[in-house]
Amino acid sequence: MVPVRRTSPALARALALAGFVAAATPLMAQEPQPVMGRPVSGLTSAELARFDAGLVAFTTPVLQSEGAGPIFNEVTCAGCHNVPAIGGFGTRRVTRFGIAAANGAPFQSLDGFGGTLLQDQFFNIGCRETVPVQATVTAERGTPILFGLGLLEAIPESVLLDRAANQPFGLAGRVHMVQPFEDPNGPQRVGRFGWKGGIATVESFSLDAALNEMGLTSPELPFENAPNGDMALLAQCDTVADPEDLPDAFGVRRTERFTDFQRLLAAPAQTPRSGMTGEAVFEAIGCADCHVGRYTTGNAPEAALSGQLIQPYSDFLLHDMGLLGDGIVEGEATETEMMTRPLWGLVQRNAYLHDGRALGGTFADNVESAIAEHGGTAAPSAAAYQALGQQDKDAVIAFLTSLGRAEFDWDVNNTIDEFDWFFVEPFATGPAPATPITPDDPGAIADVDQDGDFDLVEFGKLQRAWTGQ
Ligand code: HEC
Ligand code: HEC
Repeated sequence: MVPVRRTSPALARALALAGFVAAATPLMAQEPQPVMGRPVSGLTSAELARFDAGLVAFTTPVLQSEGAGPIFNEVTCAGCHNVPAIGGFGTRRVTRFGIAAANGAPFQSLDGFGGTLLQDQFFNIGCRETVPVQATVTAERGTPILFGLGLLEAIPESVLLDRAANQPFGLAGRVHMVQPFEDPNGPQRVGRFGWKGGIATVESFSLDAALNEMGLTSPELPFENAPNGDMALLAQCDTVADPEDLPDAFGVRRTERFTDFQRLLAAPAQTPRSGMTGEAVFEAIGCADCHVGRYTTGNAPEAALSGQLIQPYSDFLLHDMGLLGDGIVEGEATETEMMTRPLWGLVQRNAYLHDGRALGGTFADNVESAIAEHGGTAAPSAAAYQALGQQDKDAVIAFLTSLGRAEFDWDVNNTIDEFDWFFVEPFATGPAPATPITPDDPGAIADVDQDGDFDLVEFGKLQRAWTGQ
């Protein structure tokens, strides 16, 4: 399933024509970043085997006889997480519901009526779940990307706690402390996944999604969702004994395989990696106060995830977003609080904000409408964007276009092929050109080592980055 990296005959021909036959340079340093859907670079063969097995589990439907349902949203994780590669975002949204706070009564999650997450699919129509009539608030939530989650998990907790304790002026971002399902008696941990930061670890999310999206119970979460809370109906429709997520012939559970796959997925690429004018503007108008660019990961079980510089553009804190809040209370997160969404991978997506409301236009249109929706404590920053001159706005958009773009990917479609080569070739400069390529130049997408030129070193990298046929 993972595309094999090889040099196509067409590229070899093109390189020969361009006089670059010697392109197979021994300089391997600073490899091109993987396109989305590929594993982290530098994994051991045992880790790669875990990734591959995880990918299979992630895409293989759970059968009803294996424990899917009785109510669910999809029977594979990949059913929702699939664009532009398995593990990505998706067009599928899910529905949350509850009773909004009113007349002094707080928000109610309608737990006894199947809340807060709707499961809209069923094997037996008699066991269908619907949004109950009592609900006075519903919220749609879009599917985020899962690329680089092992790296996000490896950001030291102390860094996030420090950030919360030292918020920039005017911000009151706070950590969302939650209990991991796999460690019910251990310390609470900083939530960093989900639109409201309600989950702290990839393993917890796998257990949670297995149960709540697919109906697969586990030793950690052994209780099925009853359709709108009706236990009698559940008894009729639930035919498989719980817990359902048991070790397979190799002694590994499905949820462990889901976790492996997600943890070992490479981070979204960013090209150029640094130095764009638009990033400086992004910092100057306060975007980076929440969308914090850089972290170095701590110690993870895998060397390839440890001590890595990553650029997710999030502080993983809850912020009061005013009217942009989704009206749902989730754990400690209030109706108006949302976690800063990591912006890495942004350009490969096509609908923004938790309910995907910013969609339908060009990338620039959609991003500008997402910014305009930033309310509450993010409003001053959104207003500062509005007040920028057109040149600065263009620079910010150009910077945001770098998030999710692999080197050489001219048409930003997550593949490197003949089409890209056609447009990228004219940027070739050879070593040490009179006018060096800057990060704001179009040729920067080919200057992998950011030394100001597009030379043989980069041609060699282009060959290795090639995904086309
Ligand atoms: C029906 C669609 C759907 C299915 C099926 C699904 N997901 Fe998701 N996923 C979502 C949505 C929607 C969110 C946002 C959840 C939220 O915050 O409310 C999400 C969020 C996540 C996140 C958090 C990512 C982040 O950075 O915030 C992880 C991890 C995840 N899903 C893993 C899984 C796994 C593992 C499976 C399979 C067991 C799975 N998902 C199945 C729709 C789905
Ligand atoms: C106070 C913190 C804060 C500031 C300041 C802020 N953001 Fe955000 N941003 C968020 C949160 C929280 C979300 C998630 C909103 C949601 O859940 O719908 C978000 C979402 C986004 C999204 C949509 C991401 C997605 O995946 O759907 C974009 C784009 C974005 N921000 C860009 C910006 C830009 C550009 C600026 C500066 C003008 C900025 N933000 C300033 C907190 C902030």
